Amino acid sequence: MSNPLAPGWLAPPADANALAPGVWSMGAVRASDGVLTIAGVDVEALAAKYGTPLYIVDEADARSRAASTRTAFDVALAAIGSSARVYYAGKAFLCTEVVRWVADAGLGVDVASAGELAVALAAGIDPARIGVHGNNKSGALIDRAVAAGVGSIVIDSELEIERIAATAQLQRTRQRVRLRINSGIHASTHEYLATAHEDQKFGVPIESAPRLVAAIRASEHLEFLGLHSHIGSQIFEAEGFAEAANRLMALHAELLDGGPVPELNLGGGFGIAYTAADDPLPIAEIARRMAGALARAAAAFDIPVPVIAVEPGRSIIGPAGTTLYRVGMVKPVTVDTADGERATRLYVSVDGGMSDNVRPSLYRAEYSARIASRTSDADPVLVRVAGMHCEAGDIVVRHEYLPGDVAPGDLLAVPATGAYGWAMASNYNWVPRPPVVAVLAGASRLIVRGESIDDLLARDPGARSPRD
Ligand code: LLP
Repeated sequence: MSNPLAPGWLAPPADANALAPGVWSMGAVRASDGVLTIAGVDVEALAAKYGTPLYIVDEADARSRAASTRTAFDVALAAIGSSARVYYAGKAFLCTEVVRWVADAGLGVDVASAGELAVALAAGIDPARIGVHGNNKSGALIDRAVAAGVGSIVIDSELEIERIAATAQLQRTRQRVRLRINSGIHASTHEYLATAHEDQKFGVPIESAPRLVAAIRASEHLEFLGLHSHIGSQIFEAEGFAEAANRLMALHAELLDGGPVPELNLGGGFGIAYTAADDPLPIAEIARRMAGALARAAAAFDIPVPVIAVEPGRSIIGPAGTTLYRVGMVKPVTVDTADGERATRLYVSVDGGMSDNVRPSLYRAEYSARIASRTSDADPVLVRVAGMHCEAGDIVVRHEYLPGDVAPGDLLAVPATGAYGWAMASNYNWVPRPPVVAVLAGASRLIVRGESIDDLLARDPGARSPRD
């Protein structure tokens, strides 16, 4: 029966054990005993080996999303006589193993800090396949990027032209650069806004671009690769990308009068399903519609379609990730509803929370969950999965129906946590960050070591050992 505290998009499921298609990673199935397995690995065995909370990445799923994204853009751009470069946006989740997966699939990597650059380089990827971002790049980042020979640095402000040129001069080299444009287009999940100027920190105004590109071209230590635009993240529709393609192509065409503009980078932001109610466009369809807009713009301005670069992060790694928690506490909470009734929501507290996934508290992001250690025939009840942190907003899954007998000791799995989960994890309440394991063909391996309380104490110079 529907609970009045549930949002409109969430109906009580016919089967509260079912794994919604499109939300779980491709290797997630229940074994005959009802236990969730991912890529043939039983989650009870994972919990026993690595503990909980645990980030699990379905390697085949991530690799296949990387490969199919590449194919989608290759096919769509080839159909209009051009080609594509796909960079994986490492901010979504980066470790050397993931860099190798995406590199194997033919992708480059986009990094946004000295730390991300170090991880990409430590993975052994060809530096020419690395793109560097940041609205306030440190001197150390620029130095290291130029020295490593990265394929491109995305200039974000007028001041940066001189900084990067000076570094390249010092290192007696020539650095390829893009120029990030604040296109005035901002897209969110279900809508996009197109204004003259978006009030945010990234990029330079469209109207200043010709002057800045001239400055880039005037430097013998810089090589202009093209324009860049990123209109937002977790976008479900193609209109925003098409409008950005349109606006950027107009500027691109104008710049061609002053010299070559080989590429156009349209950023990332392709949305994924976090719950069964989410229905993002398939990447192949986004690529096709983006290509359509590019072809129309190219025809209108009578220019060739440039090489197109894109930088998806979430859509490659998000759906491949699942977080495993252990339930420690359940508590029914009865409240007054808007129409004067009383309704009960079951709070299910797990052993992680906003320290391993801040997105629900930071963005009110919705997730879904299932009991992972068993199936149950109990009637579904409305639950809120809460974390263990000292904060009422510490929510893991705001709205979900789970079997009513959910109890301490159950394992709970939250799908689609591969992007911006570990990447934005914290040590709030001095909670150690969990490990990340990759699962593939019945085997698991650690790809990021978890922290221990000793690791945390080691950062406190005043900590005494128990014997002191
Ligand atoms: N390129 C640029 C320049 C970006 O700023 C971003 C994301 C991406 C590519 C990759 O976007 P994606 O394909 O992953 O949507 N922490 C937020 C998302 C922030 C995204 C920041 N930039 C979240 O958890 O939803």
